[in-house]
Amino acid sequence: MELQIKPCSPFIGCEIKGVDLARPLPERLIAGIRDALLSYGVVFFRDQKLTPAEQLQVCSAFGEADEYPFVNGLPGFPTVTPVVKLPNESVNFGGLWHSDTTYMASPPMATFVHAIELPPLGGDTLFASMYAAYEALSEGLKETLSGLRAVNSAHKPRVSDTRAYRIDDSGKDVGGQVLEAVHPVVRTHPESGRQALFVNGAHTVRFEGMTVFESAGLLDYLFRHQTREDFTCRFQWSEGAVAFWDNRCTQHYPLNDYAGYKRVLHRVTLKGDVPV
Ligand code: CO
Repeated sequence: MELQIKPCSPFIGCEIKGVDLARPLPERLIAGIRDALLSYGVVFFRDQKLTPAEQLQVCSAFGEADEYPFVNGLPGFPTVTPVVKLPNESVNFGGLWHSDTTYMASPPMATFVHAIELPPLGGDTLFASMYAAYEALSEGLKETLSGLRAVNSAHKPRVSDTRAYRIDDSGKDVGGQVLEAVHPVVRTHPESGRQALFVNGAHTVRFEGMTVFESAGLLDYLFRHQTREDFTCRFQWSEGAVAFWDNRCTQHYPLNDYAGYKRVLHRVTLKGDVPV
C-alpha cells in the first residue's frame, strides 16, 4: 500500500487514499499518516469499514483513547462515543465552531471520527486552521495576545444546548462538577513547534484576570477572525468515511442542515498534553 495525499485547500485538510484502516498498518504507513496529520491538520479517508474494536486499534497507533465526560460510550467500548442526531431532533451535537473539550486541563490531541449512518444530503463538517488564523493577525495583536491566558468552560449556554438530547438519553452523572481550564490564548504545537490560536467560541469565556464583559470585545473579534472562510475546508461525508483531526491547531463545525434524517458517527478522542 502506498499513501496518496490530495490537499483539500491551501491551509487545511487532505484526503488520503490507498489505505485500508481495518488491516494492520505497517510502521511506514503510520508515520506517513502522522506526517500528513501534522502538515494538514485534518486527514480524510473514504470507504472504510471499522468495528468499534478496529477503530480503537487504529487509534492506538497514534495515541491513547480517552473518555468523553458527558456522554456514555458504546456498550463495552467506553472510549468510543456515538455522535448521534435523530430525525425528530433539532440541535446537533457540538453544532458550533469549537476545538474538542478545551475545558479539560489536557484537551485531546486528536479526534478520530468514523461515519456509520448519514443523511442523503447535508451534515458536512467545516474545519479551520488555527495556524492560518494566528499567522494572519497583525504583529501588534500577536504581541498583545502572547502573554494572555483564557478561561475555557464546558458550560457556555450555546454548547450546552447542543448536548441536551444526548445527556437526556445517554448522559453520564458528572455530579454537578464545573469543568473549566485556563489555557494560553496562543499555544505552541508540541510536535510542529508552530503557534496556533487556541480560543474558541464554544468554550472560551474570558481572559484570565479580566471579567467576561471586559473580554467580550476582543474575544468576539477572535472568534469571527479564526473561522474566516479562507482558513477552512469543508468535508462532505460518505458512508465509511473517516476524519482524523489534530485538535491542537484546528477547529471544526458540524453543520445542522439535515432535519428529519438520522446521522450516526463513532468518535474516539486521543489524550493530549497541557497546552503551553
Ligand atoms: Co467536536
